[in-house]
Amino acid sequence: MSQDGVVNTGRRRFLIGATSVVGAAGAVGVATPFVRSWNPSARAKAAGAPVELNIAKLEEGQQIVAEWRGKPVFIVRRSQDMLENISAVSDKLLDPESSNADQQPKYAQNEYRSRQPDIVVLIGICTHLGCSPKYHPEVKPMSFDADWRGGYYCPCHGSKFDLAGHVYKGVPAPSNLEVPPHSFKGDGVLVIGVDEENA
Ligand code: FES
Repeated sequence: MSQDGVVNTGRRRFLIGATSVVGAAGAVGVATPFVRSWNPSARAKAAGAPVELNIAKLEEGQQIVAEWRGKPVFIVRRSQDMLENISAVSDKLLDPESSNADQQPKYAQNEYRSRQPDIVVLIGICTHLGCSPKYHPEVKPMSFDADWRGGYYCPCHGSKFDLAGHVYKGVPAPSNLEVPPHSFKGDGVLVIGVDEENA
């Protein structure tokens, strides 16, 4: 009995430990840590120095938030399912073709608003009155949309954006979230603020 008790207790501890690890790993998918992985001088920062981030370990569905020119920048690695959900809502979007040239560089003027399909880079400021939209990647009925396919919801006045930052029709925000100039270096490094046109 006592021997069983010892074994069971040890097993329970192990199971609890394993569950905690799974829970922690699961939580990573929705965490939005604010990344400060660069260190330009104060003067360079004020002038809008480019920001470099190593996103090699960014997982599918995970968002990180960086800062560039004093603005939050959302970076998400999208899965194939997430890309399909962008296509699935296109008839609900105000500007699915990203025809407003002010809202993204030319290389992001495409269905996924990105240089490469998996990585999206968005200025995290609502185009209505400047609140920061919240990331809701889950596909499930939400209080603000019974047929939610993942994206961003701005709690200030209810604007909705898909997983590419396309604004929905019939919400206060008048345009898609802005895509800042950006480029990729080797080894998974994303540079925000620099691309071919302003290198
Ligand atoms: S600031 Fe986002 S909806 Fe008004």
